[in-house]
Amino acid sequence: MTPSPHTLPRPTILAIETSCDETAAAILTGDGKIAASVLASQHDVHGRFGGVVPELAARRHIETVETIVAETLQRASLTWPDIHAIAVTRGPGLAGALLVGVSVGKALAYARHIPLIEVNHLDGHIASAWMDQPDFPTPCIALVVSGGHTHLYLVRSDGALQLLGKTLDDAAGEAFDKAAKILGLGYPGGPAIDRLARSGRATAVKFPRPYMGPGSLDFSFSGLKTALLYHWRDHGTPERPDAVADVAASYQEAIVDVLVEKAFRAVRRHHACALAVVGGVSANSRLRAQLSVRAAGAGIRLAVPPLALCTDNAAMIAVAGQRAYLEGRRAGWDLEATADLPLPVAAGVPPSSVRAAGARST
Ligand code: KG4
Ligand code: ZN
Repeated sequence: MTPSPHTLPRPTILAIETSCDETAAAILTGDGKIAASVLASQHDVHGRFGGVVPELAARRHIETVETIVAETLQRASLTWPDIHAIAVTRGPGLAGALLVGVSVGKALAYARHIPLIEVNHLDGHIASAWMDQPDFPTPCIALVVSGGHTHLYLVRSDGALQLLGKTLDDAAGEAFDKAAKILGLGYPGGPAIDRLARSGRATAVKFPRPYMGPGSLDFSFSGLKTALLYHWRDHGTPERPDAVADVAASYQEAIVDVLVEKAFRAVRRHHACALAVVGGVSANSRLRAQLSVRAAGAGIRLAVPPLALCTDNAAMIAVAGQRAYLEGRRAGWDLEATADLPLPVAAGVPPSSVRAAGARST
């Protein structure tokens, strides 16, 4: 008789993540501990171009991934026979970059005769909300804010996701990165703006808040970016650092206001008692501060991952991969990297078997 997923012992998972410009590997043990999480950032490669160059990202992944996997095993004090399965990010992300991780994951799993698990990168981000707070309740609202995504979900009590809203153009992280490029702050733009904004005045420049109407849960950041472009073209004073800091702080405030307002609109509309905010932009200090204040005021629980788990990492892929393993999901040897891989969502009807990797039933 096949054991049910819930009676299977939890496997030790080695996860590989190469969806963008971080080469990452991590090991999650059967007792739920991250034994090691290693990451090589490529900021030095892409910095001078002001953004990620896909071909260079893929090439650097090829050069680095083997070392990162070996170092992860070493730091965890484990050897290959201790690893029960390999989880790998299939998508979404940069095609060439994903291809490296998927190929290496496949080759390692095949050579070691262990199962291969595919993970949706967004499932990984959502799973990161539960890593620090395993008892975080569902149903809850989840806001995924990264370089490629700004998506609001309802995570139902059985873990199924319902898409509530998303960006119609730029993602929030993209809005940060493009603004930093305009302001000459380098790449990645989010952390640069976050740092600089601390010494600026958020009320210095009146940037628009694209709320998209009173009921909307969608986002649009391209108009805000254009407003910054025109403001900088007409009034920019790059020679005055305090003026750049004012613009950075004002721009950041506009993005944060919109993200917080939409997240709490969703909370109110769905009578949710919990909100999870994940993805690279959830590392933003102003966003984290505003979310805490609003969550305390509204009396709801908030999950924002620790900083190291906000931006891309393989620990979150390992967590999502372990859950997928326990649900009996296995990838075939024909697994392909999929740049625009959608996150399966349930329609506005009761969900069937679609599950958010990180979500736990209450
Ligand atoms: O999740 P992530 O590492 O990669 C994607 O899946 O896209 O997110 C990267 C994005 C970048 O746009 C980066 O500028 C943004 O997250 N980011 C931040 C901060 N740290 C990273 N944005 C605002 N403030 C930050 N502190
Ligand atoms: Zn990401």
